[in-house]
Amino acid sequence: MTYPRNCWYVAAMSHEIARALTARTLLNEPVLLFRREDGSVAAIEDRCSHRRVSLSLGTLIGDRVQCGYHGLQFDGNGSCVRIPGQDRIPPQACIRAYPVVEQDGFVWFWPGQRELADASTVPDFSDTCSSNRFVGRRANTLPVAAPCLFNIENVLDLSHVSYAHEKTVGTREVAETRPETEITDAYVEVRRTWDRAAAPPMYQRLFDWKEVKRTQAIRFWPGGNVRLQITVEPVGNTEPNQVRHLHVVGPCTPETDTTHFKFSAMYRDFALDDGSVTDTIAEQFHKTILEDKVLMEDQQRNWNRDGEGVTMIDLAVDRAPLAARRLLLRLAQSERQ
Ligand code: FES
Ligand SMILES: [Fe+2]
Repeated sequence: MTYPRNCWYVAAMSHEIARALTARTLLNEPVLLFRREDGSVAAIEDRCSHRRVSLSLGTLIGDRVQCGYHGLQFDGNGSCVRIPGQDRIPPQACIRAYPVVEQDGFVWFWPGQRELADASTVPDFSDTCSSNRFVGRRANTLPVAAPCLFNIENVLDLSHVSYAHEKTVGTREVAETRPETEITDAYVEVRRTWDRAAAPPMYQRLFDWKEVKRTQAIRFWPGGNVRLQITVEPVGNTEPNQVRHLHVVGPCTPETDTTHFKFSAMYRDFALDDGSVTDTIAEQFHKTILEDKVLMEDQQRNWNRDGEGVTMIDLAVDRAPLAARRLLLRLAQSERQ
């Protein structure tokens, strides 16, 4: 699978990037991230133009990265600014720098054509991540040894929660309810609604409601953006202030063709000051994403072992995952023309 490159992708959670060198492979490219003295984040190629040593083996000096081999220095724009023992700096000494925007607790980078990067098109998660109506706890980036596409399929087909996450957020009704699917040129969205349904184990712990009225809406849009919005309220409720909202913000970024990073976290708009609720949700949510990781990595191992020629079947629930795959392929193809 080739992923589109003219998109903003998350390179890291903001809290992961400090005054230090962080190396990460993103969309098959070696990227070096660091925070400048003024607090802004830089992303440059993790390769020295001299003998191709990884700059992440070097040292951050002020806003410059010094190669650990022969001491060339580069700034956050990829310019070579010092060569020990010579004054002339040839233009080929410069390395690639990526456009970066830090927003909503994520460091976004643009792996495509530089001139197309437009900061106003960075995916906007501010209604959840930068709003005082919601709280949640960011975990560190989760590496998954399976293609990014497997994760996109996973989130767009939530029938799996009934089985993979039955101890946390799943109930049987999810898999048994045919979702409403909306497919556009820009996004794919899947929605389910229940006026009366069993409350998943995590909700029972949080609200003490055995049955609930609930909705879930999952949207995917390229490159790897995922947003899940959940409402939960007592059965028959008509009071807007009794509706609880849970949002999952879950961008994912290809590392290589067969591995990816997941940057997800769950937020809520109730019990905002209660740290124990934050702990419970963070712990339960982490459990679910580890359950997904096990399944996706198993899936990838089997693909490697069995070969891609083996037969697989598509079900009604695969409508949205297949549409997302087509959307990504179409974008990637249009970039090659
Ligand atoms: S390889 Fe970096 S300075 Fe020589
Ligand atoms: Fe899952």
